[in-house]
Amino acid sequence: MNLSLHVWRQEGPAAGGRFVRYEVKDVSPDMSFLEVLDVLNESLIHGGEAPIAFDHDCREGICGACGMVINGRPHGPRRATTACQLHMRHFTDGQEIWIEPWRARAFPLVKDLVVDRGAFDRIIQAGGFITVRTGSAPEANTLLVPKRDADLAMDAAACIGCGACVAACPNASAMLFVAAKVSHLGVLPQGQPERGERVVRMVERMDAEGFGACTNHGECMAACPKEIRIDFIARLNRDYLTAVIRRQTSDV
Ligand code: SF4
Ligand code: FES
Repeated sequence: MNLSLHVWRQEGPAAGGRFVRYEVKDVSPDMSFLEVLDVLNESLIHGGEAPIAFDHDCREGICGACGMVINGRPHGPRRATTACQLHMRHFTDGQEIWIEPWRARAFPLVKDLVVDRGAFDRIIQAGGFITVRTGSAPEANTLLVPKRDADLAMDAAACIGCGACVAACPNASAMLFVAAKVSHLGVLPQGQPERGERVVRMVERMDAEGFGACTNHGECMAACPKEIRIDFIARLNRDYLTAVIRRQTSDV
């Protein structure tokens, strides 16, 4: 396959950015999207040009590092697929492909396709943990968790923190991410002691980081490579409201 790639190039946060067109030839349909960028980067380096900066780590869909917008869609055209797991057989010979970074105020651009997703880390630091001692593995297994709750917690825990939900949302809202992180602890017995405090702290941090509000567009769920369901946002809103009311009534 021969492809025309239009890649967002930007030297740094303060520099101006623009799309640069590159022709990439003899692409195997079995290559991953990131491998095409690797090949392009090799040719750029050989030609004395700066390679395209892009984030990646596991390349197997579990770390959440490889976020980029491909032809207007976070992680590209395939449902439930991260950019690193996207293969070129899903494109056509001669296709033009536009590649750009996540665009959200809370994810400042670092260089080219790389953005700073530190805001997500700070939300987790605000409350995405438990402090209760769960004991060694055999003791933990004596704590029975209903299958329904275990399944729900596992569904929420599938979130890899990639930020595609933010990139897809017209408001750049981080509600799906926060909902997943709040829910995977909030449905388990170990997560109960700090359940109210956790949700309030994480939502406050999310707001302080500059993410937008959720207005139920549902773009987040459509873009999420781990298919985190939007009903986790309803659960987040319920938990948050309950915690705030409890806090206010205990102040009275
Ligand atoms: S909810 Fe989905 S899109 Fe958002 S950070 Fe988690 S895995 Fe990525
Ligand atoms: S590089 Fe880890 S999810 Fe894509």
